[in-house]
Amino acid sequence: MEMKPESRSSATLTAGMPVVSFQAVSKDYLADGQKVRALDNLSLGIEEGEFVALVGRSGCGKSTLLNLAGAMDFPTSGRVLLDGTPTSSLNDSGLTCIRREKVGFIFQSFQLLPTLSAIENVELPLLLAGSPTGRTAAREMLGWVELAGCEDRMPHQLSGGQMQRVAIARALVHSPRVLLADEPTGNLDTTSGDMILNLLRRIATEHKTTTLMATHSLEAAAMADTIVRLRDGRVEEVLRR
Ligand SMILES: Nc1ncnc2c1ncn2[C@@H]1O[C@H](COP(=O)(O)OP(=O)(O)O)[C@@H](O)[C@H]1O
Ligand SMILES: [Mg+2]
Repeated sequence: MEMKPESRSSATLTAGMPVVSFQAVSKDYLADGQKVRALDNLSLGIEEGEFVALVGRSGCGKSTLLNLAGAMDFPTSGRVLLDGTPTSSLNDSGLTCIRREKVGFIFQSFQLLPTLSAIENVELPLLLAGSPTGRTAAREMLGWVELAGCEDRMPHQLSGGQMQRVAIARALVHSPRVLLADEPTGNLDTTSGDMILNLLRRIATEHKTTTLMATHSLEAAAMADTIVRLRDGRVEEVLRR
């Protein structure tokens, strides 16, 4: 899981290329003229189909790591490889392509578009990608997250757990290589949160979608194959089942 640069070639031979690979990644932000080091020389490889929980106290770099994994942001030094491609090497159209085709994102605050119905929210990524079969695929995905019958509801007519299930359907409708979830149960009650965690577990097990989830919850982390504990922007510990 944790990759040393010198062991990369043998790891590649035995386990295949990691879907997401962090190679000596540092990330600095500027806040009020002060440099803040959010990730500090971090190396990590995430294998195909692996379900990884990122844990660690607030500010340790979880969201930064997810944003870099999804090519939403870029390292200050080192490289992030998504399916073998360094994200920093992509031009704008390459980035749009990789974000649309390879990555699905779920947020604590759901981030549904309030003026679109449930099915329109799910269909949107496919419309943007020019797919003609969006409506059918969106309906199927809503069925998979157990929201058949809720297609035409607006987000404000859904509970938090239902909104997060719409968000999961939207994140998965284009069959991404990587699902990134930032505190996906953070705004939910225990029952709704458990349902979301069970769905995430099934996504990894049944669809072999590589999943990276940041969480504060020990219960959430316990669903994962691998727990990566961050501290001050570094990998402190890797626990595998
Ligand atoms: N856009 C930003 N500008 C400045 N500092 C940031 C920004 N995003 C995150 N940070 C800082 O980087 C560190 C890591 O933040 P983050 O990745 O959000 O941690 P976590 O998700 O684990 O709470 C924190 O010190 C945070 O304040
Ligand atoms: Mg965060």
